[in-house]
Amino acid sequence: MIRLGVLLSGSGTNLQALINAITAGTLDAQIALVISSKPDAYGLVRAFEAGIPTMALTADVYKDRLAADAFIAQEFIKAGVEYVVMAGYMRMVNRPILEAFPNRVINIHPALLPSFKGAHGISDAFNAGVKVTGITVHFANADYDEGPIIAQRAVVIEETDTLESLEEKIHAVEHELYPHVLALIAAGRVSVDATGKVHISG
Ligand code: GRF
Repeated sequence: MIRLGVLLSGSGTNLQALINAITAGTLDAQIALVISSKPDAYGLVRAFEAGIPTMALTADVYKDRLAADAFIAQEFIKAGVEYVVMAGYMRMVNRPILEAFPNRVINIHPALLPSFKGAHGISDAFNAGVKVTGITVHFANADYDEGPIIAQRAVVIEETDTLESLEEKIHAVEHELYPHVLALIAAGRVSVDATGKVHISG
């Protein structure tokens, strides 16, 4: 059983997928605390309904981003969090969180990194006309969208796809992949070597 702290900013469908996997018994984890960078994020409602403690930070708090992250790290440590899971968190994580949780901050990105970094991975891939895009789960580090890659899944962009249908396909795969990767971590099967490459045992 691993204890997770979730960071989010929006609708929280990935949080929901984790909650569902824990309920179904396919993810041996407990979500100790959900912190939102936005007080009106629907993800907070999902957490509340699942009985998970929540905390919402205002834009004011983020004016000093290092102080904000020191506060977040402290709250996660207090809650006994072992891994920090970014689930649609629209902010960078900075040194105070990364140093408190080395190789223990995990992010999901809706494109095949290192392609289409940034906040618009799905539409950037769609507009570029690539025929295959996908999802990346990786450890976060100080370089945005550049940390060690844990797992990726490809999604084919068909001739008939629209941006909306592609978004749906990406989200459906995300909701399978994120709980799966966290289950591998919970099982102790994920490690990072000295060169920064991730290995999955077994
Ligand atoms: C997901 O597409 C994720 O890859 C990206 O932000 C989105 C979050 O969606 N980082 P949700 O809040 O989990 O519904």
